[in-house]
Amino acid sequence: MTTVSKYIVVGIVLGLVLGYLTGVFLPPSAIHKKESLLEKIKKRGVLIVGTSADWPPFEYIDEKGNYAGIDIEIAKKIAEAIGVKLEIKDIKFDALIAALKGGEIDLIIADMTPTANREKEVDFSIVYFSDVFTFVTTKDSSISSIEDLYGKKIGVQQGTTQHEWAEKHLKGKCEIKTYTKVNPDMILALERGDVDAILISKTVASVITKKKLTLKIAFIVEGTEEYAAIAVPENAEDLKYVVNSVIEQLKSTGELKKIVESEIAKLLEKEGGS
Ligand code: ARG
Repeated sequence: MTTVSKYIVVGIVLGLVLGYLTGVFLPPSAIHKKESLLEKIKKRGVLIVGTSADWPPFEYIDEKGNYAGIDIEIAKKIAEAIGVKLEIKDIKFDALIAALKGGEIDLIIADMTPTANREKEVDFSIVYFSDVFTFVTTKDSSISSIEDLYGKKIGVQQGTTQHEWAEKHLKGKCEIKTYTKVNPDMILALERGDVDAILISKTVASVITKKKLTLKIAFIVEGTEEYAAIAVPENAEDLKYVVNSVIEQLKSTGELKKIVESEIAKLLEKEGGS
């Protein structure tokens, strides 16, 4: 053997040994592609959805103590499509994004609006609902316009787009009080007279004013049309794909419309006026 060919043989042997050792000693994640969130959910057998269960008819806790509402029905469909069980975590609305980013939950389904600020932190599905802002007052109130609110106290849910709107349009003109939970805390505050009006979405306002006969819709806020979408962590493309397919199907088959109608009807029937 020539010196050159000896070097070649030694080189090959060294290469094989090193290659083998690298394979043995490196953690599998360094060799294999990182497991996707969808794969992780499938392995776990459970989809963990975060919501803020204070917003009927989208999400609330029913009289049996179960999570119920439009968003919960959508969550069930997604879990079904993935082929896993569903776990709901009730989290303060303004802590949902941090919970999603921290991996505590896989999705946020909370009638959440995909705003530019939120888009910087998480991804959003396609839109599944659209709504407008509405002020609710007690029946005896004479408030019927934004100007009527000047000098009054209004309630908003902490960290919502309603909160943001109030800060932008009413700061310095009204006293803005924030609440963690709309139902029951912010509604009770209105009933007690701690605030003169609360700002929520029209769908939620319609249900609440039908249940609470001492409350009414004062007025709808012009130019506040906004949408709801499901928040997905960044870089979870395969999970987002499943979520979008489910929403797409619920919309195109008319099933979403049925879910919305039956969830509203169920809520009004079961709990009645109080
Ligand atoms: N759409 C509004 C937002 O994204 C309010 C959503 C409130 N949701 C709830 N589950 N409390 O800020």
